[in-house]
This record gives sequence, structure tokens and C-alpha cells, in this order.
Amino acid sequence: MTKRQIIIEFNEFQSIAELSDADQELVIQARDILSNAYAPYSGFSVGAAVLLANGEIITGNNQENAAYPSGICAERTAIYYANAQFPGVEVKAIAITASVNGKIINQPAYPCGACRQVLLEARNRTGKPMKVILAGREKIEIVSDARDLLPMPFENLD
Ligand code: THU
Repeated sequence: MTKRQIIIEFNEFQSIAELSDADQELVIQARDILSNAYAPYSGFSVGAAVLLANGEIITGNNQENAAYPSGICAERTAIYYANAQFPGVEVKAIAITASVNGKIINQPAYPCGACRQVLLEARNRTGKPMKVILAGREKIEIVSDARDLLPMPFENLD
């Protein structure tokens, strides 16, 4: 028997002012797009902003549906739109934030399991690291590569 461990590293910040200009811009865009979320069932709005290697910033938010499983998360809205418009272009970073009753939540907004799987595959299309910025109101965590958010992932069956 061999005992193994997986350790995840991330950086924590107290305010977006501590981030680089590019990361701040991404968080601002993720916050801005919160107001277009359609979340009448959960009341939980999520905003995501994706930075592509060609400089484009694509934003998305959660879109719910009366048939609950038909809704989609903000991260997947943004990533799928980016891949639909710019296939093969590296996704350099994604910022994610969430609000309840119009107020950004204090804690960083973590992507669900399905979104982690989608982030990972988008990252693996180019093999380049995808920075993930998890932006709460007063706490921001940055993981340097989406791969770190999904250890032991489901991947190709070969
Ligand atoms: N949601 C996201 O948009 N992203 C996630 O990673 C987790 C959850 C949305 C889905 C649903 O509209 C609402 O948040 C409550 O679960």
C-alpha cells in the first residue's frame, strides 16, 4: 500500500485592490454581469468573466428554468459561449462572484462539480493553465490552475 496526498495551493486576498489590474478588471466584469442573472427560483445570482488569450472578455451568469435541471450555471454559460465564439483560443482566467438580494456574498463563490469538470476540459483543450479567481466581497481566493480544483478528474477513457 502506498499512501498518497493531493495538496491544493491558492492565494487569499482581502480586497480586489490587492489584485493585478487585469484580475481586477475580470472581477469587476463578473460583478457587473450579476444583474443580468436569471435566478427567480434560488435567489442566488452568479456572475463569471472569462479572459481569452486574444484579449476578449466574455461574461456569463446563471440562467434558471422552472424545470430546475434545465438551468445552467454562470461558469458554463461563459465558458461555452467563449468556446462557441472562439474555439481553440486559450482561456487564461475566469473570475466568479455571487450575490443574494443584490449584495455580493462575503465568501468566495466556489464552482459546482459540473462546472469544475467543464473548466478542466476547457483548460485541457490548450493544455495551458487557467487561473480561477473566486471573488467574495471581502475575501478573494486565486487558484493558479483550474486543474487544481478537480483532483482525480474524469477524463478520456483510453
Ligand atoms: N450556480 C452557478 O451559477 N454556478 C455554480 O458553480 C454553482 C451554482 C447557480 C445555479 C443556480 O442557478 C444557483 O446558482 C443556485 O444553485
